[in-house]
Amino acid sequence: MTLRALFCLSLLSMSPAALASKCSVELEANDAMRFNLSTIEVDRTCADFEIRLRHSGRLPKAAMGHNVVIVKSADLEAVDADGIRAGAAENHVKPGDTRVVAFSPLIGGGETASVRFNPARLDRAAKYAFFCSFPGHSALMKGELKLVP
Ligand code: CO
Repeated sequence: MTLRALFCLSLLSMSPAALASKCSVELEANDAMRFNLSTIEVDRTCADFEIRLRHSGRLPKAAMGHNVVIVKSADLEAVDADGIRAGAAENHVKPGDTRVVAFSPLIGGGETASVRFNPARLDRAAKYAFFCSFPGHSALMKGELKLVP
């Protein structure tokens, strides 16, 4: 077997999804007020990282809205409280909140949204989290955003 053939075989052994998902992740939210992931690993070598949110439920945004907000874990509660006060028109994120790394729009059932950020902006010494800032959701809808390696 030639080296070229071996190289082609090694490419085939990687799934297209694995190749495509290095700098992005699919995150699903549902009508039961849950995300399907509790941890999102972010490759620090990515110039840009994307979280693609899909609301797989049927309930409207006003009843079961979901978004993704990225913050330091230590800031989650305060950012959430300010976001609830900011209201749905602001996607439940206080305008100009410098504690927020990035956030997606609020969506309802059947909709999708995306949030992008540069991993280099994150402090390696800090712990980060993702959560939904719709009122009352963060208790269940949150997870760890983990920098790797
Ligand atoms: Co939600």
